[in-house]
Amino acid sequence: MKVDPSFQMPILNIEEVYKIYQSEKTETAALRGVSLTVYPGEKVALIGPSGAGKTTLVNISAGLLPPTSGKIFWSGISRDISRLSGEQIVRERRRFAGLVFQETKLISHLNVSQNVKLGGHLAGMEKEEIDDRTSMLIDLVGLGDRVKHKPNMLSGGERQRVAIAAALVTNPQLIIADEVTASLDPLTGEQILDVLDDINRELGVALLIATHAQQVASRAERIIEIKDGVILATHGSSIRLRDLAETRRLAVDNQNRISLPEDIMKLLGNPRSFRARLQGQQILLSIPEDELYEVEKVLTCSVCGELVDKGSQVCKNCGMVIT
Ligand SMILES: Nc1ncnc2c1ncn2[C@@H]1O[C@H](COP(=O)(O)OP(=O)(O)OP(=O)(O)O)[C@@H](O)[C@H]1O
Ligand SMILES: [Mg+2]
Repeated sequence: MKVDPSFQMPILNIEEVYKIYQSEKTETAALRGVSLTVYPGEKVALIGPSGAGKTTLVNISAGLLPPTSGKIFWSGISRDISRLSGEQIVRERRRFAGLVFQETKLISHLNVSQNVKLGGHLAGMEKEEIDDRTSMLIDLVGLGDRVKHKPNMLSGGERQRVAIAAALVTNPQLIIADEVTASLDPLTGEQILDVLDDINRELGVALLIATHAQQVASRAERIIEIKDGVILATHGSSIRLRDLAETRRLAVDNQNRISLPEDIMKLLGNPRSFRARLQGQQILLSIPEDELYEVEKVLTCSVCGELVDKGSQVCKNCGMVIT
């Protein structure tokens, strides 16, 4: 049975993180004040469209990428990890998190067993412990009959299983994964997700998985929706990605800001301000009179919900005749 997360300390705590990528000519704000916590044993999915900031956020969570500002805490370390040296981060990460990415990085001349053991040796673990964990993990990911195979003798799904076992050899508390099923066919992807579920259930390891896929997100206990570098909302389990708007819970960041969903704003005619009134436990937002004039001009298609251009007779998205 899982313990209610609210009684526990988070194992990962991201506070107000900004990431600005700078090149000679452009600046891209990939994350704009993101805060996120993951509790022991939780399964969390990070979803959002391409360019939303998912990979940036998982890389920052894993200590692979420094934030422009903001803090990152891993359990067991009282200091913000972005203040640690590269060497210290590598050392602490072995104990804290295992990483699994879309393209698995296995060493081509090492066999399955040696690839899994490698992280244990680098972490300075005892040989006996490495051997025990390696055989337990290879069995858990279902590769008991492939221990001596080199990566080029394995299928994509099998290589991903090796990567998962290798990520777990140092006994981390969290698996951080980015698009783990993206390069696999749906059935193989499903089997990899089963392996991650087994690991979560049997070893109590928490999962933070960035994904586009409904298949992945629907298995999570908590789904965090990110767009344009801002966390829009958190959802409970078993949502369908296209029903996000129905299950939406808007996130409040550390400075009490809420990002209003784009579809709702569009429907309201993108007002630039609201009047806010407190009514019991509710905050009622209403559009000021001087902005209502703009709103009345907005017409949406009754079939697909697309905004209809002023004066147009036909929806440009679905072809519905507007009456
Ligand atoms: N190294 C980089 N230099 C400059 N801009 C970058 C860099 N990496 C990412 N970006 C930009 O930051 C934004 C977020 O990118 P990120 O890769 O985090 O998105 P994502 O949600 O993982 O997208 P996808 O679903 O396509 O993988 C995008 O606008 C992207 O172009
Ligand atoms: Mg990505």
